[in-house]
Amino acid sequence: MESSKNIFSALPYQSKILSTGMYVPKKIVTNNDLSKIVETNDAWIKERTGISERRICSTEGGEFPTDMAKYATEAALKEANLAANDLDMIIFASVTPDYKLPNSSTVLQTKLGITNKCACLDIAVACSGFVYGMTLANSLIQTGVMKKVLVVGSEMLSREVDWSDRSICILFGDGCGVAIIGRAEPDEQSRILSTTLGGDGSGKEFFDQPIGGAVFPIKAEHIESGQHFMRMKGGEMFKVATRTLAQNAKKVITDAGLNLKDVDWLVPHQANIRIIETTGQILGIPPEKVIVNIQKYGNTSAATVPMAFHEAILEGKIKRGDTVLFDAFGAGLTSGAVLFIY
Ligand SMILES: CC(C)(COP(=O)(O)OP(=O)(O)OC[C@H]1O[C@@H](n2cnc3c(N)ncnc32)[C@H](O)[C@@H]1OP(=O)(O)O)[C@@H](O)C(=O)NCCC(=O)NCCS
Repeated sequence: MESSKNIFSALPYQSKILSTGMYVPKKIVTNNDLSKIVETNDAWIKERTGISERRICSTEGGEFPTDMAKYATEAALKEANLAANDLDMIIFASVTPDYKLPNSSTVLQTKLGITNKCACLDIAVACSGFVYGMTLANSLIQTGVMKKVLVVGSEMLSREVDWSDRSICILFGDGCGVAIIGRAEPDEQSRILSTTLGGDGSGKEFFDQPIGGAVFPIKAEHIESGQHFMRMKGGEMFKVATRTLAQNAKKVITDAGLNLKDVDWLVPHQANIRIIETTGQILGIPPEKVIVNIQKYGNTSAATVPMAFHEAILEGKIKRGDTVLFDAFGAGLTSGAVLFIY
């Protein structure tokens, strides 16, 4: 997909992140907790993935993906001094929607009390979902179609994980991150500088969940044999991830007319600490400029990037005026990067 500073500067408006929010479930599951249900241990998980613990949604209600999105959005609206009805659109990135129908963005619209009949779009591009949503929001704002777009990444992967498979259950967690994207004033420094999106279906079998769709509707036999869960070839994902993250990062930096040294913060998808470190090494971005919170939450798919970004702001690391790079990849295989001045 073509994306460059030249295209952006020709468009009538520019966009920026107005505010952010996040919510994580209350329940913490540690590596030691997992070692009681599968044959694993804290040292192996930490060394191979960087994860110490993850959050898991309550199945009793109150923490489903649209609930988490509601709490995170309310905080973001407050920070931006906006009312829910000021939003023109909700883009909800998730592979674990509350329901097959209706879509999660309309469920969230109702939960937020929005009555303006704003546009509601769900996107299912796995771990790249937030970056895809932000890119869409940016385009709609730059062309003047929308003024304020809520982008959500909210996942309850604990529902889709086979808790008897140690190769996969240790990696994932639940959580939600959001951002409100709006117009930047012409003389403002804050703005989205460049974006890129991609997909490569030739790697679709590296990470999939074929049961439960139109081709293979879920049957009792699938549930009995555990075939309905997510399946992943971890080693294959690892190789593609580092290559793709580095390529996309270089592309958005070049498109913006910047150099790698101009990037103040890399906020990568939190899939595995070794993927994050390797990507930083390939790009020559030092570890102190790379935002990492995988130790606390594991891989929360579309939620990792906005959660890591939000926490880094709260911790006083990322400040207004900093140049930030979002970089994500996921099942599909999908990928995307956004370079912006916060
Ligand atoms: C899944 C992942 C952590 C596995 O790490 P790895 O270093 O490749 O480990 P391997 O799969 O080669 O397994 C090494 C050994 O550990 C064992 N092992 C696997 N999971 C284990 C666990 N949870 N605890 C203890 N041992 C485990 C394996 O059985 C294997 O044993 P063997 O050598 O006797 O066969 C790693 O490949 C990964 O993170 N991949 C990317 C995941 C990803 O990005 N997913 C998509 C996100 S969008």
